[in-house]
Amino acid sequence: MTSAETAPPPPMRLRELVFGAACAAAVRAAARLGVADALENAPMAVEDLAAAVKTEPKPLRRLLRALSCYGVFAEQPDGTFAHTEMSRLLREDDPNSLRAIALWCTEPWTWDAWPRLDEAVRTGKNVVEDLYGKEFFTYLNEDAPESADVFNRAMTRSSEQSAREVAALLDLSGARSVADIGGGQGHVVACLLDKYPEMRGSLLDLPRVVENALPRLREGGDLAHRARIVPGDAREAIPVPADVYIIKNILEWDDESTARLLRNVVEAGGPGTRVVVIENLVDDTPSMRFSTAMDLLLLLNVGGAKHTTDSMVSRLTAAGLRVEDIRPVNPYLHAFDCHVSG
Ligand SMILES: C[S@@+](CC[C@H](N)C(=O)[O-])C[C@H]1O[C@@H](n2cnc3c(N)ncnc32)[C@H](O)[C@@H]1O
Repeated sequence: MTSAETAPPPPMRLRELVFGAACAAAVRAAARLGVADALENAPMAVEDLAAAVKTEPKPLRRLLRALSCYGVFAEQPDGTFAHTEMSRLLREDDPNSLRAIALWCTEPWTWDAWPRLDEAVRTGKNVVEDLYGKEFFTYLNEDAPESADVFNRAMTRSSEQSAREVAALLDLSGARSVADIGGGQGHVVACLLDKYPEMRGSLLDLPRVVENALPRLREGGDLAHRARIVPGDAREAIPVPADVYIIKNILEWDDESTARLLRNVVEAGGPGTRVVVIENLVDDTPSMRFSTAMDLLLLLNVGGAKHTTDSMVSRLTAAGLRVEDIRPVNPYLHAFDCHVSG
């Protein structure tokens, strides 16, 4: 029986680290093959699993054994394989499924980009433009539609999950309106309108994104009478009055874009307006390995970065915001609660 080992000696740990790609590839393969979906509640023989996911049994056993070393699936003494907490998260139908995220973080473009990390570190610039001759999201939408689709599904999944946590954390009693800037399909707005039945909510995002806003917020939806959908570029203008502005996972691009967006929020809200910025941090967080990996991936694809607490606070302060509280939303997101000064 193979089990998840902990703390091997340093030489072995380093050997394992340089094989990190094998681990990521194994998770990706299991997700693409649908092994977690095929594995039932009771342990299954590899032959039955192989028949269900249409693979050869012997290489499937090798894949599952490799994953079991990391606690993704568990090999039983009789040679069958069982689910673990982590392998269940690869199921499409798990309420906390990470299948789309697992695919997104291991998409083909990532395997082109990672070997050029030294170059990105040397220059401080993304490598995607050099690799594909265009900006990352243009490349994704024009040349890699399958990856674009995986991205949208991954974002939707993670937005749904974190929106519930954001709404649970934020006390917006007394506010009449909220605006989510770069709010994607509007999961945070929907959760807040559910929590506060008198509140009105606006969603501002790029036109092609709000086209796919949640049906609940659009005409005919149960929240439509309290929701406003605003297509636009938050770096150009934020024509949305609100008592509270939410800015979640968008200040990860270049500094100039961050400064412009914050300036527009401050102008739109005016003195005393509450602004809640929600971000992953690369310090003082229980998810350092995850956050720093995302930080490097952002460097590779868009030349962006995740922030430290200080770098976030200094940008908010420079924009004219008073940071009053910093609280974890969950193990990988922090909320910076601010008011516009003056
Ligand atoms: C990582 S997603 C976060 C989405 C959402 N806030 C969430 O946390 O689930 C970044 C969002 O910023 C939006 N965005 C990017 N550039 C923008 C711009 N110039 N103006 C408005 N939204 C923008 C993207 O379309 C995307 O929805």
